[in-house]
Amino acid sequence: MTEYYIPQEIIRRKRDGLVLAPREIALLVNGLTDGSLADEQVGALAMAIFLNGMSTEETVALTMAMRDSGQILRWSGLDGPVVDKHSTGGIGDKLSLLIAPILAECGAFVPMISGRGLGHTGGTLDKLDSIPGYDTRPSLDRLQRIVREIGCAIVGQTSELAPADRRLYAIRDVTATVESIPLITASILSKKLAEGLDVLVMDVKFGSGAFLPEPDRAEFLAQTIVNVADGAGICCRALLTNMSRCLGRTAGNALEVLEVVSVLRSESRQRDLIDISTELCGEALAAANLASSPEAGKKRALEVLQSGRAAERFGTMVSSLGGPVDFIENAETYLPRAPFQHAVMPDRPGYVAAIDARILGLAVLSLGGGRMASDQAIDPRVGLSAVKAPGEYVDANEPLAIVHASADANAGHAAAQIQAAFEMTEAAPEIEPYIRRKLTPTAMANGPIA
Ligand code: URA
Repeated sequence: MTEYYIPQEIIRRKRDGLVLAPREIALLVNGLTDGSLADEQVGALAMAIFLNGMSTEETVALTMAMRDSGQILRWSGLDGPVVDKHSTGGIGDKLSLLIAPILAECGAFVPMISGRGLGHTGGTLDKLDSIPGYDTRPSLDRLQRIVREIGCAIVGQTSELAPADRRLYAIRDVTATVESIPLITASILSKKLAEGLDVLVMDVKFGSGAFLPEPDRAEFLAQTIVNVADGAGICCRALLTNMSRCLGRTAGNALEVLEVVSVLRSESRQRDLIDISTELCGEALAAANLASSPEAGKKRALEVLQSGRAAERFGTMVSSLGGPVDFIENAETYLPRAPFQHAVMPDRPGYVAAIDARILGLAVLSLGGGRMASDQAIDPRVGLSAVKAPGEYVDANEPLAIVHASADANAGHAAAQIQAAFEMTEAAPEIEPYIRRKLTPTAMANGPIA
């Protein structure tokens, strides 16, 4: 096959629906990283990929080239596998804070590099920023030292890992090309591969609060990620999980950290949080040969959680990264609290039939718990607690949720939004399980992934 090394010629080939060679893709990614590819060329390329898709092989080549655009962490001499979990994001999604210490306690090393909130979904990093003193931006050296010593560290993205993704993502964001399965896959996996992982477990969400609400589209993304990771040489498993709800009872940064601490201390037995996090751990532990099967891995994860060992590990991670040494014991005294609380009452008693979870996310955003512009400061205190779940009965005196706000007027406004997000019925509705499917690598059809 003829290879073209002139950027506009390669872009033209993608525009015309042809398959690019790995060398051509690497050339474009080099141009993305060193700035020789102009913004308008990057935008045109992203649109050509958005419209015409990429084959699995092209997506693997794009992922590898983006991984190689920066530093790749090396982990020689560890006595266990390097494992991570990634979620496509949701409302109240605090699972990473449970999963990292559980996996570390089961013998894995977890360099969990997480993102900030995106749109209506919250970000793990914003949650950790509510812990006083916790350094979410350590150097890569410090991150590696802590992971080697403690077994896990949850920190923020750095410019050293997969810098090509940072530029491509920023341009996709303003050229209506974010929702492209090959581009999303390469974006997520290039950053994860740069962590030097052996195993990745993905939580791909569908439903009203998810970034891709349609189940078929989310499943296609999950399958593509698993297959491309396999092609790039790491073992990846994915769960397709339902995000038509708030995960746990809280949404909002400090409130979510407090809920995690109450699960780690076994004061809360919040079923969705425990079920999904231990299921993801089970998959990861089996894939990393730390358990004989996903079921055995899940059982081990549950024991570690219930014994309090995951809590201890979380506490050690917090103090190693500069947070309080007694955070697990005294989280309530360290986490900031909003001055106003407002109960959201149902307009009539009944069962919660459905929730437009996106509205819950947008309410937290408008309270100041997320960002409308990338440089905006967020208020860690605000959000929702006591959020009801689909299938639960709510009587007339019981709130659907409690709004935590910095001002009374904001609380009232958010409460009206939240009430409208709940659909109530008289009869008990059928409720979908939290986990719809598990995905392992398959042979993909040869055609383009679009
Ligand atoms: N998250 C990412 O990191 N990249 C995308 O493209 C979408 C979600």
